[in-house]
Amino acid sequence: MKVGVIGAGTMGSGIAQAFAQTEGYEVYLCDINDEFAANGKKKIAKGFEKRIAKGKMEQAAADAILAKITTGTKEICTDADLIVEAALEVMDVKKQTFKELQEIVPASCMFATNTSSLSITEIGAGLDRPVIGMHFFNPAPVMKLIEVIQGENTPNDLRDTVVKISEEIGKTPVQVNEAAGFVVNRILIPMINEGICVLEAGVASVSDIDAAMRLGANHPMGPLQLGDYIGLDIVLAIMEVIFAETGDPKYRPAPLLRKMVRAGKLGCKTGIGFYDYSK
Ligand code: CAA
Repeated sequence: MKVGVIGAGTMGSGIAQAFAQTEGYEVYLCDINDEFAANGKKKIAKGFEKRIAKGKMEQAAADAILAKITTGTKEICTDADLIVEAALEVMDVKKQTFKELQEIVPASCMFATNTSSLSITEIGAGLDRPVIGMHFFNPAPVMKLIEVIQGENTPNDLRDTVVKISEEIGKTPVQVNEAAGFVVNRILIPMINEGICVLEAGVASVSDIDAAMRLGANHPMGPLQLGDYIGLDIVLAIMEVIFAETGDPKYRPAPLLRKMVRAGKLGCKTGIGFYDYSK
């Protein structure tokens, strides 16, 4: 099966890796220009180098996976069987991307989006085929879950096929009906937001809030570290979607979260968030 992954950022490159390391799958890793797409593949190669250095992977195995990933713009997806869109979390960008893709890919090609909270129904509106949510988690090559999300017009046979594909690439799919934040982000992102509110209220320090949730709830990362890892702009965008869709004040983004995003303190990707990553 040939999979076109649209967007070669953190999620796109991780998703490309998850497919390429499964037998029988080839990947087109695409971005708005060749350089961005090639950088996505370099990110995957860098991850492999670390594993090789630790003695957890053979060079030949890494080379074989990388050889299954072709990079370029979305125009290379002419014979793709499945598209997984992981472009910017902006509705118009996603809609336009699929609109252009339907002129490029075969009529039989399935459309999936990795959106973290936008409406699957709205992304699919006006297209010549249905869209399904195929929501991976960061780091995509490691995290086991895929939320398979049906929008209002997503047929059950597409859901069943995507569930099967998710299992084939070693993931555990859960079936979800479209709702703001789906399942994981509906629960996880308000928890991170609450961690920020706790910090803002002066209840505890950054490191103590994170230690409390790591050691008291057995989470692998505390909420503030996880917010930095996901990207605070993404955390805010998801809170805004859940807040706007539900109108429920319990989903109000923390003022400190807004302030940090305005300051460009987005977490790991900008070198500073709740922690300093510059070193
Ligand atoms: N890409 C590929 N592999 C990676 C990786 C990456 N970015 N990061 C870590 N790994 C691999 C490592 O190579 C290592 O593999 P091996 O055991 O084979 O060597 C394994 O994962 C464990 O990594 P580490 O030993 O370096 O570190 P760790 O044990 O502390 O685990 C972690 C790192 C998996 C990120 C862990 O801290 C964790 O699970 N954190 C929480 C992650 C989480 O909650 N993600 C969901 C975010 S929400 C989301 O993504 C949805 C959304 O829409 C916003």
